[in-house]
Amino acid sequence: MIIQSAKFLISSPSVAKCPNSNVPEYAFIGRSNVGKSSLINCITGVKGLAMTSSKPGKTLLINYFNINDSWHLVDLPGYGFAMAGKKTRERLEEMIYGYVNHREQLTCLFVLIDCRHKAQKIDLEFINYLGENGIPFSLIFTKADKLSKSALKIQIENYKNTLLETWEELPPIFITSSETGKGKEEILTYIEGINEQIQCQREQ
Ligand code: GTP
Ligand code: MG
Repeated sequence: MIIQSAKFLISSPSVAKCPNSNVPEYAFIGRSNVGKSSLINCITGVKGLAMTSSKPGKTLLINYFNINDSWHLVDLPGYGFAMAGKKTRERLEEMIYGYVNHREQLTCLFVLIDCRHKAQKIDLEFINYLGENGIPFSLIFTKADKLSKSALKIQIENYKNTLLETWEELPPIFITSSETGKGKEEILTYIEGINEQIQCQREQ
């Protein structure tokens, strides 16, 4: 897919205030600092479109981006932001779960995972929640540039094996680096395929 336009649309504090649209919607979620906002900038090719930071907890609202005037990309706040106070954590949790449970336009949720770490409880719990609740999701391993090819392969294999302890089937998996652009085309092609399917269904 060629990105012709990528524009910031709106920041919403809750699912109730999200845009009333009918275009397919794809959202990025994952632990704080995993690289959600960076990957949005990478796949759209627009530097600074989503705000990034080396400090966790940069994205604190549901941020909408309008892509090619035909679909939405959503940057969600990170979960498990340990440094935030209890109130902020609860507010973010409400925002995230409100969004994933009630956003009917959500076509696919991309769960981002830092490829350098072995499977973390907080991610596995979130993935299990999505599976149990029938929320469509895919996995994206981020920061692939930080590992050697062989170390990356081992990490991904280990992660898959951990998931297969609970699930019979694996979700679609992407491996990315916002530094090198690795995985960008695969994600865009995947989104394009789903958009085409939706378009076909709507025309029937
Ligand atoms: P929150 O909004 O706080 O939840 O974080 P986020 O998940 O949006 O992370 P963000 O994109 O702000 O990136 C966090 C840090 O990781 C920044 O310092 C980025 O430069 C760095 N980073 C993100 N992606 C990559 C990557 O693919 N490779 C490398 N080397 N660094 C990355
Ligand atoms: Mg962010």
